[in-house]
Amino acid sequence: MVDKTQWNERIKLIEKALVEELHEDSALEPKLCESMKYSLTAGGKRLRPILLMAAADAVGAVGTDYIHIACALEMIHTYSLIHDDLPAMDNDDYRRGKPTNHKVYGDGMAILAGDALLTQAFEVILRQNNVKPEVLLQVVREVAMGAGPNGMVGGQSIDLEAEGRKQVLNINDLQKMHGAKTGALFRAAIRSGALVAGASSDQLAALTQYADCFGLAFQITDDILDVVGDEAVIGKPVGSDERNEKSTYVTLTSLEEAKKMAADTVEKAVKSLEIFGDRAVFLRELVEYLLHRNK
Ligand code: IPE
Ligand code: IPE
Ligand code: MG
Ligand code: MG
Ligand code: MG
Repeated sequence: MVDKTQWNERIKLIEKALVEELHEDSALEPKLCESMKYSLTAGGKRLRPILLMAAADAVGAVGTDYIHIACALEMIHTYSLIHDDLPAMDNDDYRRGKPTNHKVYGDGMAILAGDALLTQAFEVILRQNNVKPEVLLQVVREVAMGAGPNGMVGGQSIDLEAEGRKQVLNINDLQKMHGAKTGALFRAAIRSGALVAGASSDQLAALTQYADCFGLAFQITDDILDVVGDEAVIGKPVGSDERNEKSTYVTLTSLEEAKKMAADTVEKAVKSLEIFGDRAVFLRELVEYLLHRNK
């Protein structure tokens, strides 16, 4: 069982900090700020900041010391969700249990809220003044790579291209797409946590392998929840992938096969944590939780 107390305590810390990050810039346009805040404060599991902190803990640092970088990752993730839900993309009406950003603020403002969160995130990273500038530069690179055309945006474009064209992707393509659209930001979060904590190259390699498995297992279980999830619990529509004729692990294999792939991937993630001993207990529990998550 994952330690929910630590998770919830850190969620509280992250959510308080997210609002503070926004208000640091007191001159934000009111409507834009409201739209950004609407999605940022709508809830969510806050997995990317939690993983950044847990990776730093595993290396022997104190994860909560990197709250600005943690917030920046959540801002980028939230932007990706706002854009993913737009009519021109997945066209979904609910997210985090509330109407999607564009349903409340309109498509134009939703696009801008996403743009603003992405851009401001990089300035927020630079607020992390307890990290050496050369390490912060490495973090900026990790995050930019994870979010950009070689990462999340690249993966989203593969997803979009494959939409409505059944069987256009094979399992390897699907793995590549998942690795990019979802895995890359998890990878950036975990590697950034490792870097700020001063990880050795062995530790960084082990955490990178963990991150890649985490991202893959996460998106496989996201695809499964799109079929078997409870809308009231996951806070977003079930059946969105089928409606949009998406290629997913479930459509390309079967529910059972997808579950097995997720379990194998989680096992591989756990193995990669061996060198950290007890310091990686939370990381292990977090990846094991993916197999039982209902949201
Ligand atoms: C959903 O991410 C989008 C994917 C990458 C599949 P999360 O499931 O982490 O969403 P929140 O942040 O908890 O709402
Ligand atoms: C997109 O995957 C993940 C992002 C990069 C936003 P999905 O389209 O499956 O995400 P959900 O299911 O809408 O959260
Ligand atoms: Mg999508
Ligand atoms: Mg979607
Ligand atoms: Mg999905």
